[in-house]
Amino acid sequence: MNYGIKDINLAEKGRDKIEWAEKQMLVLLSIRKRFSNEKPLKGIRISACLHVTTETANLAITLKEGGAEVYLCASNPLSTQDDVAASLVKDFRIPVFAIKGEDTDTYYQHIEKVLSSKPNITMDDGADLVSTIHSQKKELIKDVIAGTEETTTGVIRLRSMEKDEALKFPIIAVNDAQTKYLFDNRYGTGQSTIDGLLRATNILIAGKIFVICGYGWCARGLAKRANGMGAQVVITEVDPMKALEAVMDGYRVMPIKEAAKIGDIFITLTGDINVISAEEFPLMKDGAILANSGHFNVEINTEALKSLAVGRKNIREYIEEYTLKHGKKINLLAEGRLLNLSAAEGHPASVMDMSFANQALSAEYLVKEGENLQKKVYCVPEVIDKEIARLKLESMGIKIDRLTEEQERYLSSWQMGT
Ligand SMILES: NC(=O)c1ccc[n+]([C@@H]2O[C@H](COP(=O)([O-])OP(=O)(O)OC[C@H]3O[C@@H](n4cnc5c(N)ncnc54)[C@H](O)[C@@H]3O)[C@@H](O)[C@H]2O)c1
Repeated sequence: MNYGIKDINLAEKGRDKIEWAEKQMLVLLSIRKRFSNEKPLKGIRISACLHVTTETANLAITLKEGGAEVYLCASNPLSTQDDVAASLVKDFRIPVFAIKGEDTDTYYQHIEKVLSSKPNITMDDGADLVSTIHSQKKELIKDVIAGTEETTTGVIRLRSMEKDEALKFPIIAVNDAQTKYLFDNRYGTGQSTIDGLLRATNILIAGKIFVICGYGWCARGLAKRANGMGAQVVITEVDPMKALEAVMDGYRVMPIKEAAKIGDIFITLTGDINVISAEEFPLMKDGAILANSGHFNVEINTEALKSLAVGRKNIREYIEEYTLKHGKKINLLAEGRLLNLSAAEGHPASVMDMSFANQALSAEYLVKEGENLQKKVYCVPEVIDKEIARLKLESMGIKIDRLTEEQERYLSSWQMGT
């Protein structure tokens, strides 16, 4: 078997971690059990470009149990867990091409390796597989039934491909399932970004001015947690509706140029480019800490920071201290790449359970229905989304009420008033 990982001898440690995560992924496990009997993905080649974490390992194992041939590479050069990659290769015979800290060339070579399997289904987190196929590997398009996309940034890229009529196969936007973004983005990113921040810096959050750029699903999860830990949260936004929500949720809202002057910690979570730019660095306080948890490392203009700096030093594993002229120091975490996956382990398994249940059930749906779909970006079918919520509640031992016949009649009628 062909693979490209750091060290196969890390497999034992990786396997223990995969099994630990599995205990929190009961929805995915129930799907795995059914897949194992029914083999709905038999003969299907799946190329996946996802963060190589314990949770992704459990997804890959589930897809393989369903009969698929699975090939996996990383969706970010810093997010791979090398022990997990080793276990997938050694214990589960799944070809993985991912090494934590790989350079950009290796990252793209690894994408090419998984694409050389000639996928029938692509599974992306940030749309790098789909964009590589469409720009450099058009000959693969004929074999692809459809793809799935995990994150907001990927969905934005794919929707603009659809708009330009450049998209050549259908995509399911897993990100847009309610059982994904309401939980993974909000609770997952919220918690794991704090986790990454603490692992990288070990700072006290209480009493700090904590600037969060964006107030979308990820950012509001982070804001709530930072606030709960005693920080004064400041939000920057470009959307008046989101900004208004942030104000009414009790946060201070101001432009980035104002926030730059007062913040102790800055975290970008927008999916946008140059949200913190060359103009803001000189305004910041000495010792300011900057990090990004959005998908790509473009939210903080790190190139501008480098060119403004007169000195640069590695302070701790994930902290680079840049000295500006006049001696002010700015600390950049994890090279501006997603903090929660670089300095910590990404989202907890319990929340990825729902995201990856969406991936697995979407793959099954695409095998059945993919040929009937157009070259568009689709939402996860509502029945799948609702079923995942039901299964998750069931796995947590939580029961809810059901509408009575009278209530169903009442809610579907217009005649009855007071
Ligand atoms: N780190 C992770 O594990 C993880 C998990 C899920 C999503 N993501 C990524 O996080 C990013 C945000 O995702 P989301 O689901 O919260 O998106 P979202 O669309 O819900 O929110 C993004 C917000 O950023 C705002 N924004 C855009 N440009 C801005 C600017 N210049 N200044 C201030 N605000 C700005 C938008 O108005 C929007 O409210 C995306 O890149 C997504 O792919 C990361």
